[in-house]
Amino acid sequence: MRYCCCWGFPVESSTSIANCHPSTEAISRTQTQTTNTTYSGGSNFSKNSHFSAASDEEAFPDGQILPDPNLRIFTFAELRAATKNFRPRTVLGEGGFGKVYKGWLDEKPSWRNGSGSVIAVKKLNSESLQGYEEWKSEINFLGRLSHPNLVKLLGYCLEDRELLLVYEFMQKGSLENHLFGRGSVVQPLPWKLRLKIAIGAAGGLAFLHQLERQVIYRDFKSSNILLDGLYNAKLSDFGLAKVGPSSSKSHVTTRVMGTHGYVAPEYVSTGHLYVKSDVYAFGVVLVEMLTGLRALDGNRPRGRHNLVDWIKPVLSDRRKLKSFMDSRLEGRYPSKTVFQVAQLALKCLEQEPRCRPSMKDVLETLQRLEAPSEKSMEPKVRNRNNNQGIAQGRGQKPLYPPRSPLHPPPRSH
Ligand SMILES: Nc1ncnc2c1ncn2[C@@H]1O[C@H](COP(=O)(O)OP(=O)(O)OP(=O)(O)O)[C@@H](O)[C@H]1O
Ligand SMILES: [Mg+2]
Repeated sequence: MRYCCCWGFPVESSTSIANCHPSTEAISRTQTQTTNTTYSGGSNFSKNSHFSAASDEEAFPDGQILPDPNLRIFTFAELRAATKNFRPRTVLGEGGFGKVYKGWLDEKPSWRNGSGSVIAVKKLNSESLQGYEEWKSEINFLGRLSHPNLVKLLGYCLEDRELLLVYEFMQKGSLENHLFGRGSVVQPLPWKLRLKIAIGAAGGLAFLHQLERQVIYRDFKSSNILLDGLYNAKLSDFGLAKVGPSSSKSHVTTRVMGTHGYVAPEYVSTGHLYVKSDVYAFGVVLVEMLTGLRALDGNRPRGRHNLVDWIKPVLSDRRKLKSFMDSRLEGRYPSKTVFQVAQLALKCLEQEPRCRPSMKDVLETLQRLEAPSEKSMEPKVRNRNNNQGIAQGRGQKPLYPPRSPLHPPPRSH
């Protein structure tokens, strides 16, 4: 299904998106007014904007473009209080933009998003290379896009030099943490949940790609896939998103943005960006889910730093694939389905963007694969042994500490 909307802004750059977007007026107004006083509401926003994540999702399961961003403007004092003065213990994780804190709003919740008044607050680090442009892009995209597989942006704060973003709190943290986090608080993800997460993330990308003016997400990776209490996947971080070019044309960018290990080869070598560049990154995440190995890992032996370069030849060999599967699955997965997922990953990883499937096709394939019975989910002892040889015997444990130490203590949120 195509989503009917006209973004009404040109495709050239994310800056021009911001310039044309209805929310920009309010944002720049915020900027000028905050020099002297705290801005607390413009015509587009109100302090009492409702945060109806759940009800929106129920009413529009296929997503929608909101006519106006329904974002609340928070004061810095409110967010400082919510995060207990940005106390280190409330840190959920840290990325290029800055730290992300868990917060509690001290007010009666009037919204029905299931998580009460718990929020996640992303605070720009003054040394961050990402910055105002990405902060604005996040507001312009996430503030207007609503879909069950996109994280809900609740509001923002801009005061003096402080830039913050406020999101719905995602109880289970990021996929990255579940796949690569070590220690007793991180439970290995069973196969069924991996498939559910892949379907959710594919749903988010398919939604963006099926908009009348397609959106290229540009930073698809396991740390940007957040999980709610039921492991529903939602994409976060639209700082690099771009409104796509028409049909199969590409953007040509002078600065390649994204994350090493996930960026499509044509984008790296030519600067040409397609919606199919997102499909490539999706393939990389599928391989991470199968193997439990990071897209890029300098601690692996030479020639194996880049997961795709290393594993791609293995994906089409059913027998070899078994020995590369994530040891934390302990052999509990349906071999046939896993092989089909590997074939799907291979298609997503085609060198030529045209040869990659659309995200709609990817989504439908994954949904079909989820359906069959799980007859072959019994542990396969032989496989487990092989596995340990690959995933753990080569210095995988633990390569990195989990980036978000508070994530995801399963019962602590
Ligand atoms: N809404 C949220 N709810 C719960 N945890 C969150 C939320 N947003 C972010 N996090 C946590 O904070 C971590 C850091 O997120 P952030 O998006 O800032 O960085 P990143 O994705 O790891 O890196 P990058 O800056 O390269 O995108 C995430 O991995 C996740 O664990
Ligand atoms: Mg992120």
